[in-house]
Amino acid sequence: MRVLVACEFSGIVRDAFIRTGHQAMSCDLLQTEAPGPHYKGDVRDVLDYPWDLMIAHPPCTDLAVSGARHFSGKYLQGRQQASASFFMSLAKADIPRMALENPICIMSTLWRQPDQIIQPWMFGHGETKATCLWLKNLPPLIPENIVDGRESRIHRLPPSDDRWKLRSTTYRGIAEAMATQWGRLASAKSGAALRNSNVSRPSQQMR
Ligand SMILES: C[S@@+](CC[C@H](N)C(=O)[O-])C[C@H]1O[C@@H](n2cnc3c(N)ncnc32)[C@H](O)[C@@H]1O
Repeated sequence: MRVLVACEFSGIVRDAFIRTGHQAMSCDLLQTEAPGPHYKGDVRDVLDYPWDLMIAHPPCTDLAVSGARHFSGKYLQGRQQASASFFMSLAKADIPRMALENPICIMSTLWRQPDQIIQPWMFGHGETKATCLWLKNLPPLIPENIVDGRESRIHRLPPSDDRWKLRSTTYRGIAEAMATQWGRLASAKSGAALRNSNVSRPSQQMR
């Protein structure tokens, strides 16, 4: 499959797909931290390439409910509207399968409820970080490595310049699950066939 990993500097999801035999490219305004196929720039420059699958991690700073105490300022400055608009530009891309990822955020009420909420402890990391997935033509991820431990990663990280990067980097176990479970769909209906069909998102499940 041709896989676009949007808003990813770490290369973690991209490399998980490459390891399982797919053509994957990451894209971020930042340079990639792991050498590999990467477009450094605005993801909207590359959305119209004929991708089969997009995994997107749009910025959550202005959308996450954990920052609700700052919402009024963000709204007055239009930052929240701009971030929601960016999120929706990804959601509306003409790509047959996609997963949009964000923490618990206002897109659940502004747009629609997520199809799935996952936690790192479901995929081999003994930590909590509720992560919403909005899915199009993808099944919910099956928790394949449930482990003990319910520590919050965010509270464990000391202050530093790159704290936001450490906080937002995708967990490897989740990336592996995406690549193995969603990568298998390559042998199912092709991207081109899906593009021309009316199949849409799955029903809501796995809250
Ligand atoms: C929440 S972080 C996601 C990090 C990701 N999980 C990873 O492991 O690299 C959001 C990222 O979106 C990027 N970003 C913001 N606007 C963008 C745009 N228009 N095009 C591409 N990337 C963008 C930011 O630079 C930031 O790295």
